[in-house]
Amino acid sequence: MDRKIRVVVLFGGQSSEHEVSRISAKSVLENMDPNRYDVRMIGITKNGEWLRYDGDIRCLPTGEWEEIARGRLLSEPVRPEGDAATCMDLIVGRNSDGGKETVDVVFPVLHGPNGEDGSVQGLLQLAGIPYVGCDILSSAACMDKEFTKIVLAQAGIPTAAYIRVYRDEIDGSVQVIRNMVGERIGWPCFVKPANAGSSVGVTKVREPEVLQEALHLAAKYDNKILVEEFVEGRELECAVLGNRHPMASVVGEIVPCNEFYDYNAKYLDGKSATIIPADIEPHIAEQVKDYAVKAFRAMGCSGLSRVDFFLQKGTNRVILNEINTMPGFTEISMYSKLWAASGIPYPELIDRLIQLAFEKHEQSAKSYERT
Ligand SMILES: Nc1ncnc2c1ncn2[C@@H]1O[C@H](COP(=O)(O)OP(=O)(O)O)[C@@H](O)[C@H]1O
Ligand SMILES: [Mg+2]
Repeated sequence: MDRKIRVVVLFGGQSSEHEVSRISAKSVLENMDPNRYDVRMIGITKNGEWLRYDGDIRCLPTGEWEEIARGRLLSEPVRPEGDAATCMDLIVGRNSDGGKETVDVVFPVLHGPNGEDGSVQGLLQLAGIPYVGCDILSSAACMDKEFTKIVLAQAGIPTAAYIRVYRDEIDGSVQVIRNMVGERIGWPCFVKPANAGSSVGVTKVREPEVLQEALHLAAKYDNKILVEEFVEGRELECAVLGNRHPMASVVGEIVPCNEFYDYNAKYLDGKSATIIPADIEPHIAEQVKDYAVKAFRAMGCSGLSRVDFFLQKGTNRVILNEINTMPGFTEISMYSKLWAASGIPYPELIDRLIQLAFEKHEQSAKSYERT
């Protein structure tokens, strides 16, 4: 392309990871070469309104962007419910003469449900616009921690044993669930929403008496809840980049400052440490990378993902915990640090992701032609 690439960056969103998304987006925007990219920004507020923004990117993390955007009114605030067409218009853009601008690629820097779960990807897919990252199916399947386990079992990748509980089963069946935990996975166990992120709604449950409370907390975030076997050990993470032939980064370790890597340990206390590369035996690192690439392919991921593992104490087993299709993406996030340590600096990572989006789009366009 001899002109600049027109990129729309989507940030914010209605999930519990709204704030994280704004910080990630600032880093992405700061590192996009203005000579190569023509960038437009669209913010999604916590209550789901889409707003065009053209102000200072330093106002993204602080939240001031929203007031500025409302003040400038580059566009009427719009919601996808009932008015998805106007949201699409916002993405495609308008020239001053009312004609359509075009967009070459969208970078949805959105974490969590309604952003990282295939919904925004579906909108872009229907509109025929290339976008960075995983497609509908892989985004949705990785967002759902039960589907992740089901697919990975098929691929021979170990995950923690679990019991699935639906919200409306909690009160009527709590004693049955307690018995099942005792028989199948033991105490302590981990209770988590099947679809969520940032550790919201996740509880380590030590004894049967507090299981019900933990189930209700998880049920605030999702209708489906997983009760998982507690895997005692270290937490390892590996970054994956590519489409059908992806690469794995070096392996990193997270050392949470709290008892587990909860919301405070992730974002507030600031004392959790990351060790890159992780101080582990070479064959363990190879195992992690191999599982990370296999899992990426088994789930049908494209573009990027961060694959998180446990290294179980005593057995040294590598157990996959979850796959994040749009991981935290600031310059100091694990994903970008893992690539920096593997020889790909942050601005290059963005260039590669955009190229991968074009490649993937071309591939899927070819399959439409056949039908
Ligand atoms: N089965 C488990 N055994 C031990 N620790 C766990 C388990 N599940 C979750 N955790 C702890 O809780 C954190 C958050 O859980 P995770 O499943 O990764 O949810 P999220 O998608 O919110 O990050 C993990 O990083 C880990 O510290
Ligand atoms: Mg996690």
